[in-house]
Amino acid sequence: MVKMSSVSTILFIFLSSVMINHLHLVSSKQWCVATLTATNAQLQQNINVGCSQRVDCRPIRPSGSCFIPNTLINHTSFVMNAYYQSHGRTKKACCFKNTGTFAITDPSFGSCVYGS
Ligand SMILES: *[C@@H]1O[C@H](CO)[C@@H](O)[C@H](O)[C@H]1NC(C)=O
Repeated sequence: MVKMSSVSTILFIFLSSVMINHLHLVSSKQWCVATLTATNAQLQQNINVGCSQRVDCRPIRPSGSCFIPNTLINHTSFVMNAYYQSHGRTKKACCFKNTGTFAITDPSFGSCVYGS
C-alpha cells in the first residue's frame, strides 16, 4: 500500500512536470523585432542582411501583406523576425549588432503574419 502510493506520487510529479514544461513551451513563443533606438541606417542594413539570407521579403514590398504599416521599423522587424525564425531561433539570430530585441506578444497585424 505504501509502495503503491509512492509510485503514484512519483507518477503525479512526473506528469505535472511534463505539463509544466509543455505550458512553458507554449508560453515561450517570441518574436524578434527592431529596437526603437536603432538608426535608420541600421534598420536598412538589417533588411539588406535578412533579404540576402533566405528571408522571403516579398511581404514588405508594395502590395505585400506586410507593406502596411509602411514604416522602415515595421518592415525591418518583419524581416528580422523571419530571419530569426528561420535561423535556429537563437539569441544570436536576433542580435543584429544589438539592434534586435524580443517581443512576447505577437506583432502580427491584419493580414501581416509574423512567424513564430
Ligand atoms: C510597428 O512599429 C511600431 C514601433 O516599433 C510598433 O509599436 C508596432 O507594433 C509595429 N506594428 C506592427 C504591425 O508590427
